[in-house]
Amino acid sequence: MSAETPTESPEVPTENTMPPDIPDVEGKVKSSDSQVDRQVEGSDEVECLEPLSKRQRKKLLKQKQWEEQKDLRRQKRKEKRQKRKLERQSKLDSSNEGSGRKRMRREVVPSTLRLIVDCSFDDLMVLKDVKKLHKQIQRCYAENRKAFHPVQFYLTSHGGQLKSNMNENDKGWVNWKDIQIRTEHFSELIKKEDLVYLTSDSPDVLSELDEKKAYVIGGLVDHNHHKGITYKKAVEQGIDHAQLPLGNFVKMNSRKVLAVNHVFEIILAYLEKRDWKEAFFSVLPQRKGAVPLGEANNSSTRALSEKEGEDNDSDSN
Ligand SMILES: C[S@@+](CC[C@H](N)C(=O)[O-])C[C@H]1O[C@@H](n2cnc3c(N)ncnc32)[C@H](O)[C@@H]1O
Repeated sequence: MSAETPTESPEVPTENTMPPDIPDVEGKVKSSDSQVDRQVEGSDEVECLEPLSKRQRKKLLKQKQWEEQKDLRRQKRKEKRQKRKLERQSKLDSSNEGSGRKRMRREVVPSTLRLIVDCSFDDLMVLKDVKKLHKQIQRCYAENRKAFHPVQFYLTSHGGQLKSNMNENDKGWVNWKDIQIRTEHFSELIKKEDLVYLTSDSPDVLSELDEKKAYVIGGLVDHNHHKGITYKKAVEQGIDHAQLPLGNFVKMNSRKVLAVNHVFEIILAYLEKRDWKEAFFSVLPQRKGAVPLGEANNSSTRALSEKEGEDNDSDSN
């Protein structure tokens, strides 16, 4: 057997490859070293003919084992390299996920459309309804913050009971971002030609949204006690008005008067989907009984008259 040929498996640790020395009958030390002796006896080298000392044999054996374990060491180095490579790769992957999130954030494209909640009806509401309006406004704010095309959000004529309630229950409103909370009436902030009052009583039906315009939502929870109030105001002030094209797409259980946050969310959904039907169905609650036109049955028609005026001020919370 050549000195290069491993006598044992390379996986066996070094310390186990040193068998104990065993004395033979002549009192000489007989060990696996003698194998080494035999191996070197076969050699032509003169010095190998000399009997090796125990120390030399040990040295030789160690050298041999070191040679034998070359493969094992190479294998271990390879494994280490692969492990490091995998670690680098997984670090890279997680940082790519991070930039993916950043990309998601960058995909947000704010709309130039201004959407105003007109809070000038404060003294027409009892505290319970002011609180509902407050919740609806909170919802509008939250939805706008996470929208793909957030609108330029205004709260105008802000004051009175609504402001007191916000101070009392949600002090954080003073730090709200991407919103203009103003005490002025919207007519003091935006030119007349740009304004469109959204009101279910308008004979005009919106077909598209014009992102250069400022659309106004009446900040009112009135259980239909003040029918037509926003339409009258728009006419008095000589500004454009329009209702959402609900009737073209949806058969409702209840009247087409929606809560502030529903109107707000439909606008956001339309800006994203560019499709009224999809926008309505993604926002309107089931209990409004909204069904696509042509699919309505008799029971929904009955519900329309039973629920009239009852469900238009839902706070959707
Ligand atoms: C609960 S409603 C207030 C109803 C109130 N009686 C009125 O005359 O406006 C809240 C606001 O949402 C908007 N709104 C509700 N339904 C609408 C619809 N179908 N089309 C357009 N705007 C609507 C209006 O701006 C309305 O003032």
